Amino acid sequence: MKELKEWFVPWLLTARDYNTSILDKAWASPEMARLMLNENPIPPSEKVVNAVAEAVRKGNRYPDSMLSLRTKIAKSYDLGPENIALCNGSSEIIDSMMRIFLKPGDEIIMSDPTFGLFPPRAELCGGKVVSIPVREDDLQYDVDAMLNAITEKTKLILIINPNNPTGVFIEDADLKRFCETGIPLCIDEAYLDYHPEIPSKAPLIKTYPQVFLSVTLSKAHGFAGVRFGYVLGTKEMVEAFKRMFLPWNVSLMSMAAAEAILDNPEEIEKKVKHNNRWMDIFFEEAKKVGLKPYQAHGNYMLIDATMKGKTTEEILQAAIDMEKIFLKKIAPIHGKDGYFRVTPGLDEENERFVRFLKNYFG
Ligand SMILES: Cc1ncc(COP(=O)(O)O)c(C=O)c1O
Repeated sequence: MKELKEWFVPWLLTARDYNTSILDKAWASPEMARLMLNENPIPPSEKVVNAVAEAVRKGNRYPDSMLSLRTKIAKSYDLGPENIALCNGSSEIIDSMMRIFLKPGDEIIMSDPTFGLFPPRAELCGGKVVSIPVREDDLQYDVDAMLNAITEKTKLILIINPNNPTGVFIEDADLKRFCETGIPLCIDEAYLDYHPEIPSKAPLIKTYPQVFLSVTLSKAHGFAGVRFGYVLGTKEMVEAFKRMFLPWNVSLMSMAAAEAILDNPEEIEKKVKHNNRWMDIFFEEAKKVGLKPYQAHGNYMLIDATMKGKTTEEILQAAIDMEKIFLKKIAPIHGKDGYFRVTPGLDEENERFVRFLKNYFG
């Protein structure tokens, strides 16, 4: 008899893993500051909680595609309801876009480093990930190298704006060069709401029908556990995503939560202000102890500690031992070990992080 694994599609076990064991550890140890994930430390408001409670009363019914919510969100981008499909967090877009565009052997071009969920989801459809290191000096996308990597097998390009974990924005002229290739392009705007002064790239879909945008309420809105996101694109693009998404993929509770927070912009502003204030403090404090923080535009800061002679593992362990803080492990960049990433938590947790910087590196 064949072993079970011999029945699996060949790429199931060879695809990279996206390890979420840190979440189990964090939920099991509430005394730990969870500064390792790009979560929002501020819980949903009572308005959101009440809206969810009201929605669960109708929880015996299957949800629809909520035209009123789609219309409202699309309008904020000067688009129509046919240009948007709702989903269960933007991870669902990451998964679906691979299955829409990649068949086994096809390639997706992305930067290295990138958000760690993208490579496994491509590889789980037999896709090949072409990772192009960011530039060494400013960690910007290496646009020339990414464009040079295009082959006839390239079916998808990914630009996260601002990028995770580097936090940098791409220049408009550079983004346009990707649009001009005509190859399907995902622009992931997961963190854009931390900088509402920067316009969304959504208008590009009017000129470039192969471009689509991925948006989530997990970050500035603080809905990582609620699960709500949406894809923006031409009607044809959105129809493709709708075919790939599961029907009734977004629960009535998630839609009610989204509607409540979008009607209450002060809640988002408060969360953004808290984050950005601490990002500035982290930046200054990291510099003071001789580290190189990258000016980041999301809710995470990449910090270069390679000059201190400590490995990333040593730094992460010291943060746990000294201040009960989980930080994010970053694989060596350009062969150099000693990078880590931190996300602002609540005030008291952030004070612990600043104390860690001073006592460990100072
Ligand atoms: C760039 C990027 N896109 C998408 C996501 C996924 O977010 P969610 O599935 O919670 O919407 C993340 C999460 O960290 C991210 O960093």
